[in-house]
Amino acid sequence: MKLSHKNDTGKLPRTALLIVLAAEGEAPALPDGVALAPAALEDFRGEFRQVRLSDATAGAARRVLLVGLGKREDVDGERVRRAAAIAVKKAETVEAEDATFFVPEAVAAMAGGASAFGSALAEGAVMGAYRYDGGKSAPKPAKLKKVATLGKGAALKSGVEHGVVLGEANCFTRDLQNKAGNQMTPTQLAAEARGLAKRSTRITCKVLEEAGMKALGMGLLLGVSAGSEEPAKLIHLVYKPKGKSKGRIAFVGKGLTFDAGGISLKPSKGMEEMRYDMSGSAAVLGAFHALAGLDVPYEVHGVVPSSENLADGKATKPGDVHVSMKGLTVEVINTDAEGRLILADALHYVCAKVKPDTLIDLATLTGAVVMGLGHEVSGMFSTCDELRDRLSAAGRATGEKVWPLPLEPAFVENLKDSPADLRNICSPNMGGGSIAGAAFLSQFVDGPAWAHLDIAGSAWNQNARDYTGGKGGTGVGARLLVQYLESL
Ligand code: BES
Ligand code: MN
Ligand code: ZN
Repeated sequence: MKLSHKNDTGKLPRTALLIVLAAEGEAPALPDGVALAPAALEDFRGEFRQVRLSDATAGAARRVLLVGLGKREDVDGERVRRAAAIAVKKAETVEAEDATFFVPEAVAAMAGGASAFGSALAEGAVMGAYRYDGGKSAPKPAKLKKVATLGKGAALKSGVEHGVVLGEANCFTRDLQNKAGNQMTPTQLAAEARGLAKRSTRITCKVLEEAGMKALGMGLLLGVSAGSEEPAKLIHLVYKPKGKSKGRIAFVGKGLTFDAGGISLKPSKGMEEMRYDMSGSAAVLGAFHALAGLDVPYEVHGVVPSSENLADGKATKPGDVHVSMKGLTVEVINTDAEGRLILADALHYVCAKVKPDTLIDLATLTGAVVMGLGHEVSGMFSTCDELRDRLSAAGRATGEKVWPLPLEPAFVENLKDSPADLRNICSPNMGGGSIAGAAFLSQFVDGPAWAHLDIAGSAWNQNARDYTGGKGGTGVGARLLVQYLESL
């Protein structure tokens, strides 16, 4: 589906489906010349998520879909995204080949004004039209090919264009997540990253191979990859701003393309879900997908350690000791706590080579965060209050909510109870599995303000939100990271 903006000149272009969003208790604003049967308007109250489809009795639209936003004062970006997604989904089920959102000024004034409204509308429409058919031999093409927004003013237009960039970044992220483990290997992921560099002259990509990792001493990343036939990759994307850079920011994403647990093998039930273990890397790549279409005045680095975690004769065994790039030795008590290992080398690589002001990592790190926060919210750990607050605000704005969890020194102390410098898990009586994971990572971050987002729950299997959720990847993180950058 392609979404484009059209300037409203007062005359509605011909359309198969006219979509009109309306607040509760307010008469839906129809374009000049379009008329509906009185019953359609009588039935429609504008409650949030209420829809009313009817034939137009006059005008350039064949059919009209009214979609409720709820009370004007309750309308926020999330509601607009959801309403837009409901509308495009309905357009697809009624087999409309094109649809037009009519956005007069009184409607665009909701949810923070024309620019924010336009962005939310476009995000919701693009994300709502997402479908994954990468596993099918002969995917059925979507019926809905073209969607337009019709309204006045530069703010609405630029908002819509912004929303398309974010929506498409989310869809790109979900595509990476949803691909099967054999379709999205570290090599495939690196190819996707190289593809991103082709979309913008301001983005470059280099990929470190295993020989390069060896030269840098990345014993933790190589130790996780040892049990896999697929070569590990360390992907490094760089975005350079047009003008002078206002600072350097790094994103790191866990790119475990399939996590079987290694020798500490996972139970087979549900193991197929471990293809989502590269969701952190998908979010980072998704943010770069968006950066190609935006004008962010910061230098942004995206670093992804990518590997499989399998059991094999060469695999790391429980109790094995590996030397990290930082020099710290790590005793691998549980090979299934592999995310923190590959991230440790990547975090140190970033701190030593990139030296960013701010570092944010995203990882499907622990099952414990799914127990604690479920699938709606990401766990957030941060060494910096300002960064924490900005990410919280970005979460509320995008609907990709984050919630703070503590970095506790006692967990670091417990990790040091080992013949090596560190072990990769705490003793079981500590509990707090997500805090233990963050504590381990903290030992490899030196310099920047840092936040770690545990997205093990929020990356997949979310409650249906109309524009995302339900089965499959959510694309969480890409819009959040961009919102964070734009809030600076
Ligand atoms: N990839 C998993 C975490 C995960 C679990 C993600 C469920 C999504 C859903 C991670 O590598 C892992 O296996 N973590 C272990 C750590 C434990 C061995 C300390 C866990 O959480 O069970
Ligand atoms: Mn694991
Ligand atoms: Zn994992």
